[in-house]
Amino acid sequence: MTAPAPRVALITGASSGIGHACATLLASHGLKVYGTARQAVSAPEGCTLLTLDVTRDDSVTQAVGEVLSREGRIDVVVNNAGYGLAGSIEDTSLDEARLQFETNFFGVMRVCKAVLPTMRLLQGGLIVNISSLGGAIGLPFQGLYSASKFALEGFTEALRQEVRPFGIHAVLIQPGDIQTRITQNRVRAQATGPGSTYQEHFEGALKVIEREEQAGIPPDAVAQQVLRLVMGRSFRVRYRVGRLSQTSSVAAKAILPSGMFEKALMSFYGL
Ligand SMILES: NC(=O)c1ccc[n+]([C@@H]2O[C@H](COP(=O)([O-])OP(=O)(O)OC[C@H]3O[C@@H](n4cnc5c(N)ncnc54)[C@H](OP(=O)(O)O)[C@@H]3O)[C@@H](O)[C@H]2O)c1
Repeated sequence: MTAPAPRVALITGASSGIGHACATLLASHGLKVYGTARQAVSAPEGCTLLTLDVTRDDSVTQAVGEVLSREGRIDVVVNNAGYGLAGSIEDTSLDEARLQFETNFFGVMRVCKAVLPTMRLLQGGLIVNISSLGGAIGLPFQGLYSASKFALEGFTEALRQEVRPFGIHAVLIQPGDIQTRITQNRVRAQATGPGSTYQEHFEGALKVIEREEQAGIPPDAVAQQVLRLVMGRSFRVRYRVGRLSQTSSVAAKAILPSGMFEKALMSFYGL
């Protein structure tokens, strides 16, 4: 009897952080993993690296086409590629905001549209969209980042209902602070800095944001959650991963009077 072919996974943003951890872990558990990055870097252990920029239609079509032509299927997609844009909403230009959405939101949509026809045909698949606790709570000076993740939350809630009849599952993971290169890769809106009315509050809040990220849990915690999903059979809408003090803030938002919750959040960010 021949062994069944390994399941095939596509993981965006596998050059670093959460995507890298997911790629390495899934490969070590027998999946055939294709990780992606915008530039040719060394592949995570046991994986094949493809170049992919999620902001470009042609790049997504080409990378997904490459996996399909080699494997004939994609069973698992982890939409992980993303970055943080920091700055007050007033200091953020529309172009900076659009680019944040092109990556964190439309990038996911592009990949979903590219993989769904084959998943439908094969009557199965798992799509894991990496959101954020910032997709459940609007974070000051990360307003556009939060907005892109809130959009991803609504998108995924809708998507999972549409694709379930075809045996496809879509889920969200909401990580709290995870120690990755998200801190170094963060883009600051150009108008932050000297001359901005918000500068003092912004710099203070950014220090808190960076401190929390650098004290965050390792990205492997998110990868372990992805692995549980890959190996599992039932799929909730969302899974939170992080320190309890952070993940419980979503419950606190639901339970506490809104003014009280907001006051606590503002005080946390020094506002
Ligand atoms: N770290 C946290 O605390 C945290 C918390 C909640 C949610 N998240 C989410 O987790 C995901 C991964 O972030 P991370 O923390 O692992 O950060 P990271 O270490 O900075 O990794 C980000 C990855 O995204 C890729 N990427 C960025 N822009 C891209 C684009 N246009 N096209 C393709 N790939 C792109 C990067 O690849 P290249 O630059 O090499 O192309 C890199 O591999 C993001 O969606 C982030 O919002 C992170």
